[in-house]
Amino acid sequence: MKYIIAVIQPDRLDPVLDLLEKKEIHLVTVSTVMGRGRQKGIATVYRSHREAGSLLRKVKLEIAVNDAFVDATVNAILEGARTGQIGDGKIFILDLPQCIRVRTGEKGGTAIG
Ligand SMILES: Nc1ncnc2c1ncn2[C@@H]1O[C@H](COP(=O)(O)OP(=O)(O)OP(=O)(O)O)[C@@H](O)[C@H]1O
Ligand SMILES: [Mg+2]
Repeated sequence: MKYIIAVIQPDRLDPVLDLLEKKEIHLVTVSTVMGRGRQKGIATVYRSHREAGSLLRKVKLEIAVNDAFVDATVNAILEGARTGQIGDGKIFILDLPQCIRVRTGEKGGTAIG
């Protein structure tokens, strides 16, 4: 299992969610966050979601998937979030040792989706 974290532009959330749903990836956690990349939070004029100091408003998606869904998840994020401009975002892929559904106690690949 993998835990995929993506930080993207807020205006790309809907396209990414649509593409994920088309690939049967429905379970997701979404947060509004603040962050900065290598431009150190210097906003471009047309993307000025500046919130505080050198931090810009971003959206973070967290998606836990079985290994078979990793490529589909990453490709949906890339396709939906990429404009080619700076600040399009970043994807982090972490190994996920365990997942437990609280209601049933199911674990691992059964609990994840
Ligand atoms: N190494 C990192 N560690 C933690 N968060 C990061 C890291 N890199 C990027 N982020 C998060 O992702 C957001 C988007 O990053 P961004 O797309 O600006 O990356 P970048 O490396 O600066 O690439 P680009 O040159 O395309 O802008 C940042 O605002 C920050 O929240
Ligand atoms: Mg950047």
